[in-house]
Amino acid sequence: MSRFITEWKKSHGAGELRIEDAGQTAVLMGWVDAVRNHGGTIFIDLRDRFGVAQVVFDGASLGEADMEVAKGLRQEYVVAVRGTIQKRAGKPNPKLATGEVEVVSTDLELFNRSLPMPFQVADEVDAKEETRLKYRFLDLRRPPLRKAMILRSEAARLAREYFASQGFVEFDTPILTKSTPEGARDYLVPSRVNQGTFFALPQSPQLFKQLLQVSGYERYYQICRCFRDEDLRADRQPEFTQIDLEMSFVDPDDVMTTADGMIASMFAGLKNVEVPLPIPRITYEQAMTRFGVDNPDVRFGMELIDLTDLAKTSGFQVFKSVAGEGGLVTGMVASGGAAFSRKEVDALTEFVKTYGAGGLAWTKRADGKFTGPLAKFVDEALEKALLHDAGMKDGDLALFVADRDASVARTAAGRLRGHLGNKLSLVNPDEFGFIWVTDFPMFERDEETGKLVAMHHPFTSPNSEDLDLLSTDPLKVKTRAYDIVINGQEVGGGSIRIHDRKVQSQVFEALGIGEEEAGRKFGFLLEALSYGAPPHGGLAFGFDRLVAILVGADSIRDVIAFPKTTRAACLMTEAPSQVDTEQLTELGIGLIEK
Ligand code: AMO
Ligand code: AMP
Repeated sequence: MSRFITEWKKSHGAGELRIEDAGQTAVLMGWVDAVRNHGGTIFIDLRDRFGVAQVVFDGASLGEADMEVAKGLRQEYVVAVRGTIQKRAGKPNPKLATGEVEVVSTDLELFNRSLPMPFQVADEVDAKEETRLKYRFLDLRRPPLRKAMILRSEAARLAREYFASQGFVEFDTPILTKSTPEGARDYLVPSRVNQGTFFALPQSPQLFKQLLQVSGYERYYQICRCFRDEDLRADRQPEFTQIDLEMSFVDPDDVMTTADGMIASMFAGLKNVEVPLPIPRITYEQAMTRFGVDNPDVRFGMELIDLTDLAKTSGFQVFKSVAGEGGLVTGMVASGGAAFSRKEVDALTEFVKTYGAGGLAWTKRADGKFTGPLAKFVDEALEKALLHDAGMKDGDLALFVADRDASVARTAAGRLRGHLGNKLSLVNPDEFGFIWVTDFPMFERDEETGKLVAMHHPFTSPNSEDLDLLSTDPLKVKTRAYDIVINGQEVGGGSIRIHDRKVQSQVFEALGIGEEEAGRKFGFLLEALSYGAPPHGGLAFGFDRLVAILVGADSIRDVIAFPKTTRAACLMTEAPSQVDTEQLTELGIGLIEK
């Protein structure tokens, strides 16, 4: 039996060795990151969770048998070494935290060998993402992923500590449950015991956390998995994690203040960044007017300018007719944008067209003059708006979208603003931009079906002064809902809930959900609202998105240990997969040919 493990426990993390440790005996265990054979003396970089250290094997310190083992070492073999920490005999390596020391080995053991690797365990790899996902257990050895996973764990710890300090009670809510409407499709699980019936995996613990308020717990939180069968993008996964909370006897300010505290604790603890509190709040109306989107990146200005009034008397026909027909003319002044080539400006025009805009009107300012297609229509009023109100200077570019459908113009301009923010490098990647967006509309119209759907979810409380509008003009109803946006990404959202059964029924009605359907789907909630439901509200953070921002990752895939592809599959386990006919029969399920 080897003395490693039984007698000699791992004493140091490889990455933790420092010059102050020189003279100590170290027992290291880990993976061979690299091997260098210098004429009889063998050097390896030994890697573990904590980093990399250089280990030296030479015939003077190491026995003959162990020396033979050392000669056979290859990348990713798993080894244990015992030896003395010393100042490096050779040149120090300033790129390594352990670069001033090495371990001169007196004992070596090979725990396991490895096949040649499909890709290197390096910061950057050129392997295809499919290969990395198939061998995710190897990808997770790479330092950037390791750092992300450890930071994620720290973030969860900080969240738990914060909520415990605020008197929150942690709960587990069911995974096998009933459909919770968050606007996506459900993942269904067939019941064997009750054939022909299905559980739904929770899209969020929304209803359970509301019920826990009826139960009187007052402050609930959970770090929970949510499941949504929706079209995936870089910031969406079919299963993802929320930090979910709910509180009784609160108004929006209480919930936002609580959430502010968690965000501040995470950014202080993990990034050494002091978040100025309270995080600023703007209404949905303001966000749409100033930024054209409900998830603005507030790390740069370039706010939208509304030209609709001026456009009414403009010589530019497109502006004039759009303004005359109740549409919107909006755009921005891009500082330094006059340097764009004609081709670049044409690309911007194509960009806004992908959002349904008819075109892009633009003018550059150079040598105290306007140039470009809009130049000849710059009258006195527009000149004042651009130069005086918007501060346009030589070297700048003004761009405008006009559309009869105000929301098309707004969205196109808002997306263009985001695009230009990147293109003009207006964003310092080390900076964070926090903002709350509040007072969302209750409903929006589904483009495909034309029906009203809840913008957040149907349990969100309308503003009390808007209750009458529920039956008369539902699209005008504003809610006590709020989203937290960091760097232009929606990182969390929540609301004060309806605790009055009558109001809940009115909202269902506006959504075209009748008594019978409401009873069938949410009967348990409606019933709970009839047994002393306190006023309550809460919020859920998208934990993966939050961690991606903290890590600086482009995709939430980089902060999830075992993520799925955009085709909602796991390449490593090859899930989802077919099952035996027997299993289906047991469930009473037959497959139909598509
Ligand atoms: P919502 O649906 O807004 O609210 O979700 C809350 C936050 O979860 C994140 N998120 C996702 N992250 C990764 N992949 C996904 N597919 C995905 N979908 C959502 C977002 C989002 O802001 N029950 C309510 C919360 C409440 O009202 O308290 C809810 O789930 O960052
Ligand atoms: P056109 O009349 O189509 O040749 O367009 C003249 C200029 O107006 C071009 O620069 C177009 O990109 C721009 N333009 C056309 N439609 C719109 C619109 N809806 N909003 C803003 N600019 C537009």
